[in-house]
Amino acid sequence: MLRHLAMEMVRVTEAAAVAAARLMGRGDEKAADRAAVEAMRAEFNHIDIDGRIVIGEGERDEAPMLFIGEEVGLRGERSFPTDIAVDPLEGTTICASGGSNALAVVALADRDCLLHAPDTYMRKIAVGRESAGAIDLLKSPTENLYRVAARKDMPVSDLTVCILNRPRHTDLIDEVRKAGARIRLIRDGDVSAALAAAVPESNVDVLMGIGGAPEGVLAAAALRALGGEMQGQLIFRNDAERERAKAMGLDDPGRVLMPQDLARGDVIFAATGVTDGDFLKGVRFKPGGAVSNSVVMRSASGTVRYVTANHDFTRGRMIPRIDGE
Ligand code: FBP
Repeated sequence: MLRHLAMEMVRVTEAAAVAAARLMGRGDEKAADRAAVEAMRAEFNHIDIDGRIVIGEGERDEAPMLFIGEEVGLRGERSFPTDIAVDPLEGTTICASGGSNALAVVALADRDCLLHAPDTYMRKIAVGRESAGAIDLLKSPTENLYRVAARKDMPVSDLTVCILNRPRHTDLIDEVRKAGARIRLIRDGDVSAALAAAVPESNVDVLMGIGGAPEGVLAAAALRALGGEMQGQLIFRNDAERERAKAMGLDDPGRVLMPQDLARGDVIFAATGVTDGDFLKGVRFKPGGAVSNSVVMRSASGTVRYVTANHDFTRGRMIPRIDGE
């Protein structure tokens, strides 16, 4: 993987984040998402890659842009062939209500190194470097908490578990409470929560529960670079979803997906804060421009860079517009 592509990925997430942030708090999830998608796609097409979207906005017939299978980039004869996972606006509801932790995210890998996940749910567990190798999605949440506590040399009661606040998690929440751990219930945004589990200075030790499968692949890519671990298991709502997973190449769609199944090889992950979050500030607009905050990491080197960018709307191509302007 060409390492200069790391900076190109920051440009991609910056463009999406600035476009979406312009629509923060307007209560219009679709408009914010559309703005992010359009900006991200336009930026991809300035980059010298032969890119193929494997995790995107949906199937070709339901998403006009950044759909699964769409080809992006300059796609010249010598362009670098790559598979791409995108979530131009992770946390559409968060952005629409001006909440915390909306992100624009992208992961780039060599061909066939990212799971081709259907747009279904995934049971997930994610931890940071210290607990990598200790978790097992097939074990109970209690057992996993004891294993993480042992690795961190902390009592379970001092661990913080991040869980999406959903009715489907009632039993999980009960069990984690019985085990004695602290819980952080979030409204949305489990990519951000998985990152938080892997970043030592955050106040989250484990992500548990069921969230989107595409988000699971993106989080797994980030955790490869951060040195943490994520495991997942696809959860199907119906037979059509199960068949779709098989058609995408998963011979045993119900098995536990290990980190190398989710994202392997040399991976680049970039994220830009749309709204203020746990470890990235959101986009701040100022006269004639905006300031964005991003993180970019490469699994090959393990380097994690934080990038603060000043965007001048009077120059360059980043001139976000609101629909109707
Ligand atoms: P969107 O940006 O697509 O709205 O996803 C937000 C999110 O909270 C993800 O972080 C999470 O994986 C998923 O939705 C959970 O799905 P659901 O809202 O159906 O429980």
